[in-house]
Amino acid sequence: MCNQRRLRSRQGWTRLQVLAIGLGAILCSPALAQSVYHIGRAATPAEIKAWDIDVAPDGKNLPAGEGSVRRGAEVYLAKCAACHGKNGEGGIGDRLVGGAGTLATPHPVKTVGSYWQFATTLFDYIRRAMPLDAPQSLSDVDVYSVSGYVLYLNGLLPEDAVVGARTLTSLKMPNQDGFIGDTRPDVSVLACTHNCPRNPP
Ligand code: HEC
Repeated sequence: MCNQRRLRSRQGWTRLQVLAIGLGAILCSPALAQSVYHIGRAATPAEIKAWDIDVAPDGKNLPAGEGSVRRGAEVYLAKCAACHGKNGEGGIGDRLVGGAGTLATPHPVKTVGSYWQFATTLFDYIRRAMPLDAPQSLSDVDVYSVSGYVLYLNGLLPEDAVVGARTLTSLKMPNQDGFIGDTRPDVSVLACTHNCPRNPP
């Protein structure tokens, strides 16, 4: 019923159609779905928090806490090396290290070090998706640590570095300026949400 199709006769809406649509709208409301049909419920703040893990390039939404490159070496060996190689040279998983200066050659080697624009994205990606066989199983401290270790393997952090939100936001990646903006107008104009001009008829 909630999937009703709005059929329109040549003479316009019949009363029955209007009634059916009106009744459908009422019966399909979330409140009624919960109380009458016992399906669905509002997401709890804890559930929303668990989903809301995206980190922006500028570091917005990075969690508190700090790790270290040294700790990252242990995490990496235990949880990443099997797929990405002992030194990040690649295996079943992508190569994570090297490729500096190859992007503009006929054989570009795209790695975290040579290609990625922001170190904050590394945190987001690892926390969200890695290890491939157990995504989102690492603590934030371990994600900071192993992100730092991958950056260290690329020569972008020293061996004794402490790694937190500030480390990742202040690190300028080698290819940070290698991306060009999208100049199409619909890409840069923000969607209007209030007091919007009406569409032309
Ligand atoms: C079971 C194998 C496996 C394990 C374990 C694993 N990865 Fe991966 N990883 C992959 C695969 C496969 C991809 C490519 C995924 C894709 O392209 O969708 C990948 C992609 C990545 C990338 C993106 C590389 C790029 O340039 O696109 C990073 C970074 C990464 N992994 C880091 C890690 C870290 C850090 C760990 C340990 C915490 C880890 N991975 C554990 C298999 C693995």
